[in-house]
Amino acid sequence: MANVVVIGAQWGDEGKGKVTDLLSRSADMVVRYQGGVNAGHTIVVDGRVLKLHLIPSGILYPYTICLIGPGTVIDPKVMLGELDMLLANKIDISGLQLASSAHVTMPYHRLLDSAMEKRRGDRRIGTTGRGIGPTYADKSQRSGIRVIDLLDEQRLRDRLEEPLKEKNKLLQTIYGIEPLDEESVVHEYLEYGQRLSKHVVDCVQVIHKAAKSRKNILFEGAQGTLLDLDHGTYPYVTSSNPVSGGACIGAGVGPTLIDRVIGVAKAYCTRVGKGPFPTELSGNLNDQLTKRGGEFGTTTGRRRRCGWFDGVIGRYAVQVNGLDCLAITKLDVLDELDEIQVCVAYELDGERVEYFPSSSDDLARCKPIFETMKGWQCSIKKCRKLEDLPKAAMNYLYFLADLMEVPIAIVSLGASRDQTIVVEDPIHGPKRALLST
Ligand code: IMP
Repeated sequence: MANVVVIGAQWGDEGKGKVTDLLSRSADMVVRYQGGVNAGHTIVVDGRVLKLHLIPSGILYPYTICLIGPGTVIDPKVMLGELDMLLANKIDISGLQLASSAHVTMPYHRLLDSAMEKRRGDRRIGTTGRGIGPTYADKSQRSGIRVIDLLDEQRLRDRLEEPLKEKNKLLQTIYGIEPLDEESVVHEYLEYGQRLSKHVVDCVQVIHKAAKSRKNILFEGAQGTLLDLDHGTYPYVTSSNPVSGGACIGAGVGPTLIDRVIGVAKAYCTRVGKGPFPTELSGNLNDQLTKRGGEFGTTTGRRRRCGWFDGVIGRYAVQVNGLDCLAITKLDVLDELDEIQVCVAYELDGERVEYFPSSSDDLARCKPIFETMKGWQCSIKKCRKLEDLPKAAMNYLYFLADLMEVPIAIVSLGASRDQTIVVEDPIHGPKRALLST
């Protein structure tokens, strides 16, 4: 048995959906531990493209329990829309469970998210506009609404009364937005609660019962390491902890329950929203990667910024997540290039630095120091074993593994499940700690 955390090692959109989908096959339970409907997974199953924002991709496996943990924030309207979409695609949703203590994104959170962004002007964060920051802010202020509150009218009224008054005042006086009507909010959210009630569980009990029965648990991170509230490019981050440690807090387990941590990184880098991005490309190369990689956000449709692979942030992701191994995705997107650059260090104020600076202002001044690799200039989409890859593609992978000092377990060469090379078993293969001794 093994309990595994899968995280994004860059700025999100690394292709975690496909990797967790592959690993979910051997998981009895998949737990989403942070974030909300700001995330987006595109999964291709038998030629059907399914887009999920909140529900773990493990839902596609009939015997897998999918748990949305206490560390997440849920937008019930979007969640119910996803459930309806899955049902319309004849996917069994009986294994879906929702933590009673997860916080709920309310209509005022969405309104405030957009209004605050507008007000920030040039200093905007580029949020997804899904109300994530304001929901987590209310959680920290202890004025949030939790899933359990949607199941009882009196409790919902009690919990909502003061925050709604306060939010209405804020909306009206600062942002010039019409106030929300308490009665309609109560009715709408009670109805959501009623529809979701059959999925609501006490998450900690469920997980620990599964752990005691030696079930395989997969903890699925959303977004990515550089968007982590504590360890990312603050303030250009999301409001939760996508790093592997977030799994402990967001699911309610101790670190000793976790056997493996797998990082997912694209063969290049992308970022949506604002914030420093040292290896960012412009012009033709940027357009080429955007086009070949289909680099448009699943949630907002925004064009993603593209850049070369950044080994400095890669090494940082290995450290802050304690990665055992890596899954490298979208290697095929680089197929046509004659040369590929990899950032191995930065130049900051005339000095070479090998580490990730904790200040976003410093990061914004960092210039990438590149090493140039030869491209392979042929299609690798049909390769199924490492040995099928052209030598230049193998060299590229070895270079990344050396740079990050962590083995590559999975290589993805396209969106479908079969366009994957499993180099070594990411769950039962050698652990990084053992490899480096
Ligand atoms: P928020 O999470 O909507 O508050 O957005 C904060 C930052 O995180 C913005 O730069 C978003 O573009 C980014 N972000 C949030 N979710 C994702 C994601 O799933 N993939 C990539 N970027 C994301």
